[in-house]
Amino acid sequence: MVLNGSEAAVIERAALELAAGRLVAFPTETVYGLGARADSDAAVARIFEAKGRPADHPVIVHVTDAAAAAAYAANWTPLAERLTARLWPGPLTVIVERKPDIGAAAAAGQDSVGLRCPAHPVAQALLRAAAAKGVSGVAAPSANLFGRISPTTAAHVAADFPADLLVLDGGACEVGIESTIVDCRGAAPVLLRPGILSNELIEAAADQAFAASADAGLRVSGQLESHYAPRATLRLMDSAKLQAALRVLGPAFPGLAVYSHSISRVRQQPGGLLWRTMPARARAAAYELFSVLRELDAAGVQLIWVEQPPPGSEWDGVRDRLQRAASP
Ligand code: TXA
Ligand code: MG
Repeated sequence: MVLNGSEAAVIERAALELAAGRLVAFPTETVYGLGARADSDAAVARIFEAKGRPADHPVIVHVTDAAAAAAYAANWTPLAERLTARLWPGPLTVIVERKPDIGAAAAAGQDSVGLRCPAHPVAQALLRAAAAKGVSGVAAPSANLFGRISPTTAAHVAADFPADLLVLDGGACEVGIESTIVDCRGAAPVLLRPGILSNELIEAAADQAFAASADAGLRVSGQLESHYAPRATLRLMDSAKLQAALRVLGPAFPGLAVYSHSISRVRQQPGGLLWRTMPARARAAAYELFSVLRELDAAGVQLIWVEQPPPGSEWDGVRDRLQRAASP
């Protein structure tokens, strides 16, 4: 059931649900999360069950602030301290060594833990209300079935889960793609998943350049190739390839959709070519990306031809999600 997350009584009820070990879906500024109290392995197990997520994929623990995060960390590094002091609350997840006695299920048994303090006012209110009931953190992956597109509205969440799931409605997520994940266990940051934060911003906040190595021996389900997939087959092409494909095949193809930023819309054919224009700015494209993919799926499209986003690191997050969506 979807309830208005800006009502105090709804937050109170949701906090009670979390405290009792039940699931609550809630908005963050990136995507909606499917939450359970992170300090209860039994509660966290319900997330894996509901999503159909393999038990060896860790989930992020959401906290009210850096002090609450440090309670999950065996080693709250100076790097984690700098990044969170400068970029929290916000769309950033830090990975640190985990305290052995807490968050084992959320961390999928790993000795590291992912921590995030979201900025969305509904998430903040929920985390604070839950903390007041003794919930030290809320484990939450994106509130979608495993391997499917992340939700950016309450309706997206409700479409994926049984009607008895409590979903807090906080409107459409402002960022639209999942948080940037940075491994903060060492002296230099390691980028594990690009999001909306630019590399320059993170390096400035870290006072440190990214370490080149990406193989940190961590299991990150966001790095599985087939993540974020729409039902339709998605193909990524540069502008020239897309134009050629459209000339040769496009108009004849039933169930085809195009998502392009540089090609002007071709005349609508009786076959029903669906056309969406990708915004010219990375932030705007991230904001609508998952919504557009869900919308095209709902329209029954079989094939989605997407133009490669423009070059530039501000597009890294969108490019990453599109590449994953395109991999079979
Ligand atoms: O924006 C977000 O990050 C959203 C909102 C709800 O906060 N959450 C999200 O969760 O995207 P999920 O489960 O879809 O992706 C979490 C990512 C996964 O790739 C997971 O493997 C990684 O974070 N992760 C979590 N804990 C980790 C850990 N201890 N070590 C390495 N990766 C970890
Ligand atoms: Mg996810």
